[in-house]
Amino acid sequence: MGVLFQVDLSFMPLHDILQWIDMNRLSCVATITLEGEGGMTFYLETGKIIFAASQKKGNRLGEFLVKEGALGEMQVIQALTASRSAGISFTRYLVENGLISGRALSEVFTQLVEKLLIEVFSCKHGSVSVTSPLPDSVLNGPIHLETGRILFDAVRVFDEMNRDSLERDAAIEAINQRLYKEEFQLPVLPGMLMQLISLMEDEKTTFQDMAKLIMTDQVLISRILKIANSPFYGGSGQVDSIHFAIVRLGMREIMNIVTGIQINSLQSSDIPQERLQVILDDALKTAFVASGLARRCRLDPEEAFLGGLLLDLGKTVILSVAKDFHIEPSFLEDLLATRHAEIGALIAKKWNYPESIQNLIRYHHNRNFGGMVNRMIALIQVADQVVQAGSEKGVDHELLGSIDLSLDTVMEIYPKAMDSFYQIKSL
Ligand SMILES: [Fe+2]
Repeated sequence: MGVLFQVDLSFMPLHDILQWIDMNRLSCVATITLEGEGGMTFYLETGKIIFAASQKKGNRLGEFLVKEGALGEMQVIQALTASRSAGISFTRYLVENGLISGRALSEVFTQLVEKLLIEVFSCKHGSVSVTSPLPDSVLNGPIHLETGRILFDAVRVFDEMNRDSLERDAAIEAINQRLYKEEFQLPVLPGMLMQLISLMEDEKTTFQDMAKLIMTDQVLISRILKIANSPFYGGSGQVDSIHFAIVRLGMREIMNIVTGIQINSLQSSDIPQERLQVILDDALKTAFVASGLARRCRLDPEEAFLGGLLLDLGKTVILSVAKDFHIEPSFLEDLLATRHAEIGALIAKKWNYPESIQNLIRYHHNRNFGGMVNRMIALIQVADQVVQAGSEKGVDHELLGSIDLSLDTVMEIYPKAMDSFYQIKSL
């Protein structure tokens, strides 16, 4: 077998090589080696493509015929064996034995060649070796594809695919830029909560100061009282004034209740209501699970509650920025997954929540802290996993072990937290 020439694809693209073979009506074998992708071989007779073989699973003619429903798997295997022992080409055997018409075979083969060509076009590094003569095993077959025609179609499909991905990349880049430059509207934190947060920051604040502020909002008063009297917080006897509620629950707990109420009533005209509600509901559920677990781990339950509430709030910002762009759902989900923690931390910062909460949000999907386990983050992750999976089955056992929690504890806490969630929602 003689080598006609060998060339790097970056030097001479496959498109040009095949065109050259076609123009010169050559009968030869073009073997392509793609970096990290295996390779494939095109067989051309007087410039026309008569067969193609690939090393990659799923890219062989027999597999294509099965996938297209043209032939059964057994038929393909038998035809391959029989054609080999008869010393004739696989394609000729198929047509001569009436297993498939020449035309149908050509159609399926065209799809295969198009797919292979696109794979080569997409690959940056590779080489081609063109040899002759053609082996007997591919000669005298029924297929003779017009090389120019199929190249034209494959290039068109490839360009189309590329344009889509270029547009998508541009949209994602634009969204990232807007997030980076903070060109977005933060969810508006109601004034009351802002004032409460700054009150809490002042060490001299007394519960009377807090009561005085809350007393200015009648709707909030009634909701706080309902929650303070709910079984989740249920102490002995009814609480019928804000003063008592603060005394019984403590200022930080009241703060969390107000955050919970306010977060749950966040509105956004930019995000589909259903999607927003899922995020807000999950926030409240995670808050309840986290605070329940924190009590068992001797960690601060109030901090866990607040962390749980604010954890995924960054998603609302990303969704509202993304609505101005057209991107496929799977890419939007990727963007949400990779950016929401950092944007959430930014929201917490702008809302003046303490740095510990900001860090909790920022790192709530990180596992590796140089081998150190941050117990609060690990706990929040457990709560997040349980809520996202909708059961304790979603929990990573190694993570549980890192904070000395047992699955039994999670199984005990989770339904209780769900009860609290539905009670609070119904108030
Ligand atoms: Fe998250």
